[in-house]
Amino acid sequence: MTIDEVLRQMPKTELHLHLEGAVDSLTFAELATKHGLELPPHSSASDLYEYDTLADFLKVYSLVSHAIRDRDDFQRVTYECLERCAHSGARYVELFFSPESHFEAGVEYGAMLDGVLQGMEDAETDLNLVSNLVPAINRELGGVRAVEFVQMVADDRRDRVIGVGLDFNEVGYPPEHFVEAFRLATQVGLCRTSHAGEVGPAANVRTGIELLGCQRVDHGYNIVDDPVLVEECVVSQIPFTVCPTTTTYTSSFRDLADPNHAIRQMASAGLKLTINSDDPPMFGIDLAMEYCTLYHIMGFTPEELREFALNGIDAAWVDDQTKSEWRAAWSDEIDKLLAQVT
Ligand code: ADE
Ligand code: ZN
Repeated sequence: MTIDEVLRQMPKTELHLHLEGAVDSLTFAELATKHGLELPPHSSASDLYEYDTLADFLKVYSLVSHAIRDRDDFQRVTYECLERCAHSGARYVELFFSPESHFEAGVEYGAMLDGVLQGMEDAETDLNLVSNLVPAINRELGGVRAVEFVQMVADDRRDRVIGVGLDFNEVGYPPEHFVEAFRLATQVGLCRTSHAGEVGPAANVRTGIELLGCQRVDHGYNIVDDPVLVEECVVSQIPFTVCPTTTTYTSSFRDLADPNHAIRQMASAGLKLTINSDDPPMFGIDLAMEYCTLYHIMGFTPEELREFALNGIDAAWVDDQTKSEWRAAWSDEIDKLLAQVT
């Protein structure tokens, strides 16, 4: 088997994946037509997915979100997204979704949940892929709205809704605005993670951990500017969900082959990294391709990739018994796969 085939089959987690960023451009175009949504000029559907900064990307992300309107749409995009995860070797997925972007189109939270959770259940039945759901706070709407958002999540708590995230643009919306929202999330028993240090400073990573009580950091690249914080995170082994291709669109680390790329520096320092795809079709990738990128372009070894995959188990929001069962089974499976590389 080629290394690419092995990396695709290798069991893995996906812990940083946005439902709305996981909509294929053709599906987006179809849903837009279904709901009579006007799209920017384009000659093929894939032209719609062009951007060079986080802010521009987020405009398209919002447009995609507005095309997902009814229960069937939510079920469809969830199932299609999880199908692609399964095709990448994912065995467990924690899926972010952005309710605020759908409120803009007049959809109710309960209806979104009904469709997404049905898609997740179908994927578990058909593909044997387990997933959980993480509604994400849109930081650009501010701290007061974030508290209402967490209360809303707590008030319609379904089994698979396990935590909250914090996303959209860090610039102008630092984590300290969300202390109260995250305090409420902790009180009601939701797990917590936050996008930090992607386009904002290393200080956002510290605030996310210390003031928001985050159990993971999403992205975190600019932590490399603060060696003291790096050392603290090496000691605590708090997981970072890094997304290689995203860095080439949104961060200041655009060259994956650069030996000083943040992900390389973070790994060399001994931080606990998990590999994720963020918004796969919107960045032209899938999860398995991210592992291949780490191998072919960034120069990580198969052993390092094995460790990243297993780190995903430590970082997952599942019970300890499940973690140890997965660790035993997946280690074995990965070792057998790696022995078959030709
Ligand atoms: N939402 C989807 N992808 C994102 C990213 N890379 N950063 C912030 N918010 C996002
Ligand atoms: Zn993200």
